[in-house]
Amino acid sequence: MASSGSADLVIVANRLPVDRVTLPDGTQEWRPSPGGLVSALEPIMRANDGTWIGWPGGTDQDHEPFDADGMSLVPMSMTAQEVEYFYEGFANATLWPLYHDLVAKPSFHREWWDAYVSVNRRFAERAAEVASEGATVWVHDYQMQLVPQMLRELRPDLRIGFYLHIPFPPAELFQQLPWRRQILEGLLGADLVGFQLSGGAQNFVRLVRQRVGHKTHRDLVYLPDGRSVRAAAFPISIDTAAYEDLARSERVEKRAQEIRDVLGNPRRVFLGVDRLDYTKGIYARLRAFSELIIDGHFDVEDAVFVQVATPSREQVEQYRILRDEIDRLVGHINGDLGRIGRPAIHYLHASYPREEMAAFYRAADIMVVTPFRDGMNLVAKEYVACRYEGDGALVLSEFAGAADELRQAWLINPYDINGMKAALLEAYRADDKERSRRMKAMRKTVTQHDVAAWADSFLSELSELRPSHGKSVRPAKRS
Ligand code: G6P
Repeated sequence: MASSGSADLVIVANRLPVDRVTLPDGTQEWRPSPGGLVSALEPIMRANDGTWIGWPGGTDQDHEPFDADGMSLVPMSMTAQEVEYFYEGFANATLWPLYHDLVAKPSFHREWWDAYVSVNRRFAERAAEVASEGATVWVHDYQMQLVPQMLRELRPDLRIGFYLHIPFPPAELFQQLPWRRQILEGLLGADLVGFQLSGGAQNFVRLVRQRVGHKTHRDLVYLPDGRSVRAAAFPISIDTAAYEDLARSERVEKRAQEIRDVLGNPRRVFLGVDRLDYTKGIYARLRAFSELIIDGHFDVEDAVFVQVATPSREQVEQYRILRDEIDRLVGHINGDLGRIGRPAIHYLHASYPREEMAAFYRAADIMVVTPFRDGMNLVAKEYVACRYEGDGALVLSEFAGAADELRQAWLINPYDINGMKAALLEAYRADDKERSRRMKAMRKTVTQHDVAAWADSFLSELSELRPSHGKSVRPAKRS
């Protein structure tokens, strides 16, 4: 067994909660990193003086561990080749499309797999160094699926949890992966494997039975060494109160009004907010909106669409293709349908601080979330959290994990453009009473089930699975 460190709660994730970015003048600074994972875990980390192991972005940058906001951060560097083979390659051009229903075709390359194994090993070794005797280590997401088993071999004393933030695919798709068995065995190093939805957990247990040959009963897998592993759903959420407080602030309210003024105070503002990713269904949604104008249901004076697309994974070919397609579509729609000072679509290829996002959510009458497949989609929950007056409308894909909880949204099938048009139009025309009935019910869900409740339920389940073992983890403080 490797000798132990001093951290009682260790998070292992591909990304650190902060990125090292180089400014145009050559100086560097730390910035919050993209994605929902970071905002989800920060509160529990602060409550436990946790240690977070992750990549700060960039290549070949060696940084010493440091403290930030009550967390200890351990930056892991990556070589240019690891970024290419492990991050852009195996994580984002093999696993990402494979786990999202093959929305794009996954590429399988043996050298990418080798890089995945070696990066996972390095992260596992670092976790083994920093974790105290009997500590809890919580490993996150598809980039780190081999870490649980590697870590268990190094440190059998640890309590190990794994949480997958993206969908876990059906056996029929997963079994295309040449390294399917290694991934399943990697995950089985954990005591508890968490998924967004129960369907993902069931897919996993079925695959373990079929492909690894272990005995299973309901959500439990029995390993030959006597250990058992539980697979269950823990739908992730957001810091609801923090978003609501932000939305209620005077600055955000003022900025929201400014945004509406700049847009020309149309009757309805539609909003899309996504990482620029082919799973998000941005193209189909913009087409549906533009067809409603062409069909004469409303005019550019009545309605505008604001699409915020955060730059993402720009070195990966499929993301470059998507960017070109969206650029062209927006140009096409605005060229055909816009008037002077009145584009139909306001397209922003940029990322904004949380406060600015809250102002966008406040300014929008209709939030449009139409992924072809999405683990959860926290944007939908953020919008609901910001609508503290119980107004606003949410159009939501059935194929986002959030649709399981936010049943009162206008639910759509993103492959069905006419169905999507009908839902957008219904949301556009809905009266205040209807919008408020739906929004109030969704607000109840998001308020009761926030990120602190999510983290607490995962971590308390993990301690119950190994009760006589290890130290307890304090629940996150609610804001
Ligand atoms: C999703 C994934 C995260 C990832 C984030 C941003 O939310 O589940 O693991 O960190 O996207 O993607 P990136 O490739 O920039 O880390």
